[in-house]
Amino acid sequence: METNASELLSREHEQLGQAVIRLIVEHARTLDEVRVCSEATPADLEKIFDEPLPVVSSNAEDILARFARDILPHAMQIASPRYYGLFNPTPLPIAVWADALSSAINQNGAAWRNSPSASIIEARVLRWLCTLIGYGEESFGTLTSGGSEANLVALKCARDHAGEMVRTQGLRAVASSKKAFIVYASKQCHYSLEKSVDILGLGRESLRTIATDDCFHIRISALREEIEHDLAEGNTPLCIVGVAGATSTGVVDPLGELADIAEQYELWFHVDAAYGGALAFSEKYKERLRGIERARSITIDPHKWMFVPFACGAVLVRDGAKVLRDAFDITPEYLSEDRGGADTASDFFRYGQLGTRRFNALKLWMALKCMGIRGYSEVVERHIELTHYFAQRIDELKDFERIGPIETAVCCFRFLPEEVRCLNETEHDRWQRALQQRVERSGAAWLATTVLHGRRALRVNINSFLTEQRHIDDLVELLRRESQELMTERKA
Ligand SMILES: Cc1ncc(COP(=O)(O)O)c(C=O)c1O
Repeated sequence: METNASELLSREHEQLGQAVIRLIVEHARTLDEVRVCSEATPADLEKIFDEPLPVVSSNAEDILARFARDILPHAMQIASPRYYGLFNPTPLPIAVWADALSSAINQNGAAWRNSPSASIIEARVLRWLCTLIGYGEESFGTLTSGGSEANLVALKCARDHAGEMVRTQGLRAVASSKKAFIVYASKQCHYSLEKSVDILGLGRESLRTIATDDCFHIRISALREEIEHDLAEGNTPLCIVGVAGATSTGVVDPLGELADIAEQYELWFHVDAAYGGALAFSEKYKERLRGIERARSITIDPHKWMFVPFACGAVLVRDGAKVLRDAFDITPEYLSEDRGGADTASDFFRYGQLGTRRFNALKLWMALKCMGIRGYSEVVERHIELTHYFAQRIDELKDFERIGPIETAVCCFRFLPEEVRCLNETEHDRWQRALQQRVERSGAAWLATTVLHGRRALRVNINSFLTEQRHIDDLVELLRRESQELMTERKA
């Protein structure tokens, strides 16, 4: 009897699935031992992959063997417990497999009709995020590709808030071309805000980055001065952005005070909680977000401190779906069939700039069900405690100097032995880079550098649920060893 096509598809999945499972299982098993990053240069990798567009088919076994040989060893091992880099998590297994499921059923979440269960699940996970953050029943949101897109969507809502005709006519509807519409955020804000004001036609100079205090929080007095200055110049203050979990330092702006100022001047208040939003899971630490619920819009990224694999961001709006719909809704002929009304509320293409959208809600839905508030709370609290432990170990080393407070799971510091301390700041910066490079080349861990108050610093973020105290001890020992060797090398 002839085998039908879907039977063949099923067999292919079975065969490939088993082969892929073996790769994923082995990857997980060796995560604690493998080099965190490859030593290959871009040129090395270009050479490995320098081949013409394939003309004939290769078999799947060979393609997977190529993945194992050439791709995997040169990947950054973000899932490693020894990866202390950017806000990139070890992904939860259930969310990894959810990704495979959503690819298999390939829902197009733009319109409800093309993704009935997916759209309803997207609405459900957004409701859960709104509840988590302390928003009321009328709040709404949309999933995005990440924090950058979420910030853009939020600032589009803020821009449209400048006047009724702005969406149709642009800002000329409300002002002469000489005057600017201003967005305020701390100097620690994420670069996506600058891109967003550019994309929205406000111009990059319309982002006022406000000085921060010694703890890298926005200076409230400086913010007030800037707003007053802009008003005096005839510019229009539009929006204040508070950062909850700044990219470089992980600190949280005083959100309540920012909400007060936004209310006083009638400005849109947005909170970029892409990373720090996860504090809301913890009874112990959620106080740090107090005031976030007063924001008109919030960015929160499940693909940061919620261990969902990329890409999965979200933007939430306090005052209901209408806010997003007013900013983004459009009705193309092929998506405008009247099906009785109720379902268009679940057409997510109406709430953001994405058309075709992946069923990313599935991995978030599964992650939230698998972890629950308690599971997330336990990991977030453990990460903060481990970061304090790391800071305490760094404080014990005489050649290191810590910078800023620990409010999430980020710790910044500098390597400044006496011999370096007496040099100029450019030299100080060079030493931080040199130490980071040594750690990177060792393959035993990975950490980033950043610039704080104009000077280069080392930055550690704990973002793997696999990281334990012994990993932190190893990291401290690695820093101690590499810094000693760096000193010896420089003296020679
Ligand atoms: C505070 C903050 N906001 C926004 C973003 C942008 O998020 P994404 O990289 O997911 O676009 C980041 C990224 O690190 C961030 O730290």
